Amino acid sequence: MTDEAPDIYDVLVLGGGSGGYACALRSAQLGLRVALIERDKLGGTCLHRGCIPTKALLHAAEVADTAREGARFGVNSSVESIDMSAVLRYQQGVVSRLHKGLQGLISAATIDYVDGFGEVTSPTTVRVGDRTLTGRRLVLATGSRARSLPGLEIGGRVLTSDQALGLTQVPTSVIVLGGGVIGVEFASVFRSFGASVTIIEALPRLVPAEEESISKALERAFRKRGIVSRTNARFASVAQDDASVTVSLEDGSTLSADLLLVAVGREPVSDGMGFQEAGVHTDRGFVPTDERLRTNIPGVYAVGDLVPGLQLAHRGFAHGVFVAEDIASLNPAPVLDRNIPKVTYCDPEIASVGLTEAAARAEHGEVRAYEYNLGGNGKSQILGTSGFVSVVRVVDGPVVGIHMIGARMGEQIGEAQLVVGWDAMPEDVAPLVHAHPTQNEALGEAHLALAGKPLHAHA
Ligand code: NAI
Repeated sequence: MTDEAPDIYDVLVLGGGSGGYACALRSAQLGLRVALIERDKLGGTCLHRGCIPTKALLHAAEVADTAREGARFGVNSSVESIDMSAVLRYQQGVVSRLHKGLQGLISAATIDYVDGFGEVTSPTTVRVGDRTLTGRRLVLATGSRARSLPGLEIGGRVLTSDQALGLTQVPTSVIVLGGGVIGVEFASVFRSFGASVTIIEALPRLVPAEEESISKALERAFRKRGIVSRTNARFASVAQDDASVTVSLEDGSTLSADLLLVAVGREPVSDGMGFQEAGVHTDRGFVPTDERLRTNIPGVYAVGDLVPGLQLAHRGFAHGVFVAEDIASLNPAPVLDRNIPKVTYCDPEIASVGLTEAAARAEHGEVRAYEYNLGGNGKSQILGTSGFVSVVRVVDGPVVGIHMIGARMGEQIGEAQLVVGWDAMPEDVAPLVHAHPTQNEALGEAHLALAGKPLHAHA
């Protein structure tokens, strides 16, 4: 678009994770001159320390469970051992293939990739080593990192997900502090690999951001798997020695294990990079923005985990694309958190989009929810999983929330998201034929029931 001095750009993107690289790619597609600055590895948390390596571990965990439970299906098999170095090789193989692919995409696009630590020196400039890059627009995409609690130091037997992803041995026992998304995913992996697992959660239920019935179903399924959940339990202190780590709770009880995984949330990465000095307003480290992802400083945007709200890679992608299109004056529609789909990859899987029943009632008044039990779904019975699909509609109005739990139900989020995102009525979905036998039919059945014509369900 422009042909000026080499270090002058239309867009400077600080941070090469999901939000940042998506913004750079879309900017380049739109003919903008863009520099992408990354101090570590292109791909960020999602590719190197988050989504991809954890889901690889969860897949290895599923393979272990399948082998362990083979006899249930008449296939006599067992788990001889978990070879963590081989698991890590597999995990790293996945990560490095995706990393290479992404590097290829970035280098094929007309993006100037700048390897180094970037410091914002003004709303239009970023210093990287002895270079100063200038941009008409600046996009902050520096992401998030695992956080801990006051008095809870990470090290030795006390880990965050960063260290847990690289364990070279399966622990005998693990305490998981925090029953949110990271907590339940790792609890699931450790249990499948044979460890005894206790989850400590301060709130009254696991995955407290989900529909309450989902939390109940997960707690029940975890109990069956031998995972102990201690809810309404608050961390007080920790001590460790050569043999074990001991956690004390506020109620005075103590628990000991080989390892403590701290999964109490993630905090924004925004310190020491000149944001405040350049006048960018931060709030507990987050960079607040308006709906169009503009910070308080004209021309400076923020995307991804740095922006308060859901911390999800696909939200980052959507933010990045939005900002590029906004800069290119395409007037894109804002990315709203409420219809962003969420999948938690523990066993059983959880997938949801839109409002919970209580939130829908608060917002819309009269709503109706229908829960279709996977007990009536052929494919789920073949897989031997239990769970349900719950669809929430406004009475005489559209579907505003879908909540699902059961093995592999994460794969059903696509249709659920289209229904909620397009404000479909159950009566719109009811005539659409769902293939048999699939787990996807459960979604079809729930919509049929809400449209007043249940098939394999009671009215
Ligand atoms: P989270 O916010 O989901 O869960 C943290 C949990 O720790 C909460 O339930 C909280 O009540 C509990 N907690 C906080 N302080 C505590 C204390 N003192 N004692 C006991 N419990 C305490 O955060 P999490 O799981 O660390 O994940 C961070 C972010 O990463 C989330 O936003 C999550 O959505 C995202 N993520 C998404 C994944 C996915 O989409 N599959 C996978 C992993 C992470």
